[in-house]
Amino acid sequence: MASAPTKTTRMGMVGIGVGGAEILPAMDSAAGIELYAGADINPVTRERFHARYPEAKVYDSIEAMCADPDLDAVWISTPNRFHAPHTIYALEHGKHVVVEKPMALSIQEAHAMNEAAAKYNRILAAGHTDSYGLHNRAMRRIALSGRLGKLSSLQAISFSDWIVRPRSAEEQDPAQGAGVVWRQTPHQVDTMRLIGGGLVRSVRGTTKADVSYRPFTTFYSAYLEFEDGTPAYVFHDGKGYFFTGELLNGQRNSRYSDAQRKEIRRAMDTGMRDDEADKQALRIGGEHAGNQFQNRDAGGRGPRLQGNPDAGMILVSLERGAMRAGAHGVYVYDEDGQHDIDLSANATGGSGRQGELVEFRKAILEGKPPFHDGRWGMATLEVALAIMQSAQERKEIMLSRQVAVPDSYDAELIIPYLDNE
Ligand SMILES: NC(=O)c1ccc[n+]([C@@H]2O[C@H](COP(=O)([O-])OP(=O)(O)OC[C@H]3O[C@@H](n4cnc5c(N)ncnc54)[C@H](O)[C@@H]3O)[C@@H](O)[C@H]2O)c1
Repeated sequence: MASAPTKTTRMGMVGIGVGGAEILPAMDSAAGIELYAGADINPVTRERFHARYPEAKVYDSIEAMCADPDLDAVWISTPNRFHAPHTIYALEHGKHVVVEKPMALSIQEAHAMNEAAAKYNRILAAGHTDSYGLHNRAMRRIALSGRLGKLSSLQAISFSDWIVRPRSAEEQDPAQGAGVVWRQTPHQVDTMRLIGGGLVRSVRGTTKADVSYRPFTTFYSAYLEFEDGTPAYVFHDGKGYFFTGELLNGQRNSRYSDAQRKEIRRAMDTGMRDDEADKQALRIGGEHAGNQFQNRDAGGRGPRLQGNPDAGMILVSLERGAMRAGAHGVYVYDEDGQHDIDLSANATGGSGRQGELVEFRKAILEGKPPFHDGRWGMATLEVALAIMQSAQERKEIMLSRQVAVPDSYDAELIIPYLDNE
């Protein structure tokens, strides 16, 4: 077991919204990371952040926060259009950066972010995607081991209520990265790239914006082919009538009941919904904060599976077996039936949000470059952009900015299925 880090990275979060607040509890307990400051333009959010973290410094802008010489790193969870300018600003001011997904709104922006990281010699990590989940990382290691033969195909299928959840004005503007393609491919595609080795060759996608009350994409479906010919299929329907969890473990990934979703759709259709007020209730200190999937047990029968329910079912098919998320890590299916692989021995690797904080902390304090760096993030963004371009042009799009997963990544993971060989 690794010894506890002796140094600490002082982290400041800019944009303490719903996404940011998902990370804060993990930061609270992350070794080697101190939640040192928060910055937000919303005074109510600043007040509530201060009430929750009285020791932390509070700023009203990224500029004021980055002027603090004691701040080491910035977690950027502002709306999408700020990801590139805020990242570059923080890097220019000597701070390391974790940027939320989607990394940027264009390849040009992502490229400029990577250039700034190189120029100012700072870490840039593409953060907060489901590919940091321990179960997904373990599935990659098992696939790579060859124990179940070669990878045959990957599927990522999700039905969620993404479009029913409250959305700020920024989140409803397609020019600012609104809709499920921008917001959900970073989870599903990042994960499929991780398990499939990283190098997607081509994409054929379809998207739809097919409800009157939301001006953005509600659905996507895409066929990805890896360089080695491995096929992958990715699908997300965010309309909230059905939930993939029902197939996996009988649980719905929704905070709302059926009746509530019906009422919300009606309110949106008649222009009566106050999205901003509903969203503020989900942010830090709000009356519904922290209960994103409170209703997920409705009708629930099975155990809670690892991972982000929005990513849906990640199904991995191999020559001699199959895998998916499990109650304790991963379910592996082979000649002997189902194996419930327990990954809990990976205390220092953590799962999901802890995992990415560990990766970031090691990059800063131990000089171990993060695997999920800006080039990795840009490659996932390239797939998202290709899905949208393919949908518009109705043709296959060839990719050119993909990066491979190094074989050595996650070599230290403890995976009982492999260790028992
Ligand atoms: N990885 C995930 O699972 C996940 C989940 C939710 C959101 N997100 C990401 O987080 C980002 C924000 O989404 P959200 O749902 O949290 O929205 P949000 O509106 O709740 O959060 C954005 C926050 O940024 C603040 N803000 C806006 N402009 C600012 C500025 N110029 N300077 C400082 N603060 C500013 C807002 O006041 C708000 O508190 C998006 O990019 C989204 O993709 C990621």
